[in-house]
Amino acid sequence: MTTFVDLAAWLEAQPADAALKDVVATIAKTCADISGVVASGALSGSLGAAGSTNVQDEEQKKLDVITNDMLSDALKACAPVAGLASEELEEVEPTGRVGGFLVTFDPLDGSSNIDINAPVGTIFSVLPAPADQAAVEADFLQPGANQVAAGYAVYGPQTMLVLTLADGVNGFTLAADGQWLLTHPAITIKPDTAEFAINVSNQRHWAAPMRRYVDGCLQGKDGPRGKNFNMRWVAAMVADVHRILMRGGIFLYPWDAREPDKPGKLRLMYEANPMSLLIERAGGASTDGVTRTLDVQPTKLHQRVPVVLGSANEVEAVRAEMTAG
Ligand code: F6P
Repeated sequence: MTTFVDLAAWLEAQPADAALKDVVATIAKTCADISGVVASGALSGSLGAAGSTNVQDEEQKKLDVITNDMLSDALKACAPVAGLASEELEEVEPTGRVGGFLVTFDPLDGSSNIDINAPVGTIFSVLPAPADQAAVEADFLQPGANQVAAGYAVYGPQTMLVLTLADGVNGFTLAADGQWLLTHPAITIKPDTAEFAINVSNQRHWAAPMRRYVDGCLQGKDGPRGKNFNMRWVAAMVADVHRILMRGGIFLYPWDAREPDKPGKLRLMYEANPMSLLIERAGGASTDGVTRTLDVQPTKLHQRVPVVLGSANEVEAVRAEMTAG
C-alpha cells in the first residue's frame, strides 16, 4: 500500500515563510470544504442562478456567491492576510492588518459547468503586501512575477489541489478524511504537443495570425505543421490547464473582435497570472500571444488579457505566427 505525504507535512518541509504556509493551508482547507459543497449539488440546493450579476456583468450562480463567501471569510480570519480581491467582488477588501500577504482568487472558475456536473475549480494567487501600511487597490497591481504562491483546486472525478510555493509544481488529491495527499510530485510539461484547446466557435472574430495558427493545426499532416492535432475544450480554464499539466497541450483564449476594447476574456490577476506561474514552474510557457504574461504590469484589478499557455514549443509556434504579421 502506497503511503502519501500530507499537505501539512509537505508544507512544513518547504523553504518558505511560516506565515505564507499558513495562508496556503487556509486556502487548501477552504477548497476541501468547497469540494463538499460542490459535490452535494442539488441535495444542498446550491445549483442554479443566484439572480445577481458580478462586476464583470456576468450572471452569478448560487455557487459563485457561496464559494466567494467561504474563501473571503476564511482569508479574513487568517492573520497573515492583509487584503483580498475576488472575481466576484468589485473592490478589494483590506482586512485592516498590515504586512503579510494579499490574495486574489476566482472562487469558482468555469461556473457554466456547475449545472451539468462537469469540472469546475478555484484559482488563487498570493502576493506580498506592503510592510508599513494598510493595503489599497494599487498594492494589488503587481506583475505576476511577484507572486509568492499560486495554485488551483479542480473539482472533478477527483478533487485535486495543484500549487507552487518556492519552486516546482506539486499536486495533492483530497482523501475521504479531508486530508490533501501528495499524489503528483514535481509536475512537468513536455515541450512538444499535438493537442490544442480553444473555443473554435469564435474563429471568425480572431485576428488573422491566430486564425492562421489554428488553421495550421486543423490541416494536420497535410498542412504547414506536418502533423495531426487533437482538440479538447472543457470550458473551465482550471480543467483545461490541469490536462496540460498532466499530459501537455496548449490553451488559447485570444483577443477577438466582438468587443475590440477588451484585450481578452480571461482575467489577469486571478486567472492568467496564477496559471502562468504554475505553467512556467512546470517548464511550460505563458504569453498573451507574444509577451510573457508574468511581466505584464496590471493597471486595473479586473483587467483582462489574451492567454496562450502550455507546452513551450507550441507557445513559441503561436508567437512566431503572431509576429509574422
Ligand atoms: O472564467 C472564464 C471561463 O469560464 C474559463 O474558465 C473558460 O476557459 C472560459 O471562460 C470558457 O469560455 P467559453 O464560454 O468561450 O467557452
